[in-house]
Amino acid sequence: MTLLFKSDLDRYDIWVPALERHLQGRPVRLWPDVGDPADIEYALVWQPPPGLLASLPNLKAIFSMGAGVDHIAADPERPKHLPVVRMVEEGLTAGMTEFVVMQVLYHHRNMLTYRRQAEQRLWQEISQVPAQERRVSILGLGVLGQDAAKMLARFDFDVAGWSRSPKEVEGVTCYHGQDGLDEILARTDILVCLLPLTSETRGILNAGLFAKMPRGACLINVGRGGHQVEKDLLAALDSGHLKEASLDVFEEEPLPPESPLWNHPQVVMTPHIASMTMPETAAKAVGENIARMEAGKPPLNIVDFERGY
Ligand code: NAP
Ligand code: GLV
Repeated sequence: MTLLFKSDLDRYDIWVPALERHLQGRPVRLWPDVGDPADIEYALVWQPPPGLLASLPNLKAIFSMGAGVDHIAADPERPKHLPVVRMVEEGLTAGMTEFVVMQVLYHHRNMLTYRRQAEQRLWQEISQVPAQERRVSILGLGVLGQDAAKMLARFDFDVAGWSRSPKEVEGVTCYHGQDGLDEILARTDILVCLLPLTSETRGILNAGLFAKMPRGACLINVGRGGHQVEKDLLAALDSGHLKEASLDVFEEEPLPPESPLWNHPQVVMTPHIASMTMPETAAKAVGENIARMEAGKPPLNIVDFERGY
């Protein structure tokens, strides 16, 4: 078997040996050097050009380099009979939890306000709320949301999470469904979006949702830019209804130079780097899944395109 690898990073010197190690030395071809398309049985891709996957006649499975699969769903020619596997690997999960904890702590400890005060040479204390009184809510209680929620609970935050189906997560108050969304929003000081982008979740971070949160709440979006309606977000920040936001993802990426979000005083912005797939652990996860398939078992973490994730 041969694996085709298409990334948007240039760390091939790390990725290729890691993949070869975990595929027991089986060949890895780097897109665009596909060679004979009939040789390719597995593809590990980020943002495949439309039609690439359909051009591989013996493909058995498509592995997403990321947890999100919207970049694969966007290919109108995606071969629909093939399993698509989303990336679940410990490096990506650990990186996201680090990032979410960092952003929650940043807002919890008023760091943006202190930064603005420092710019004005202003020495002024802000009274601090203890973590137990800070209500952090996570939209999306999947692989990444649950890991972040459990770590935030260890910091003693009052943590809740929201998912499609009912969940039980130790130390986390769980909500689900539309009624659950209204309930969780009403008890939120810091909202973290860790949802996949689907037809149900597109545009979910909009004026109506912000209005259901208490005045002065903060937003951390590490899901997808398609979740947020940026004009509604700017209006909520400008009116003070939302105190602050940390945005890692944007409606348009790269963020256009004219966007007011680049240097908005209430916004922490990062260029879609909240978490990155780590070559060694990701190659191990892909290798294990290919070994399953070669043994006649279905791969783990298959995307259900009916649900959209
Ligand atoms: P996952 O394991 O598939 O979890 C998705 C969660 O969202 C599940 O809890 C699911 O509910 C919930 N959900 C989906 N649709 C919903 C709906 N309509 N209403 C309520 N809950 C809904 O995904 P993951 O691995 O945690 O990744 C989540 C997302 O993070 C990815 O899709 C990607 O967009 C984003 N991400 C971003 C970065 C970055 O660097 N910014 C990095 C990695 C991932 P159920 O549990 O009931 O199914
Ligand atoms: C990154 O955005 C991912 O989906 O892993």
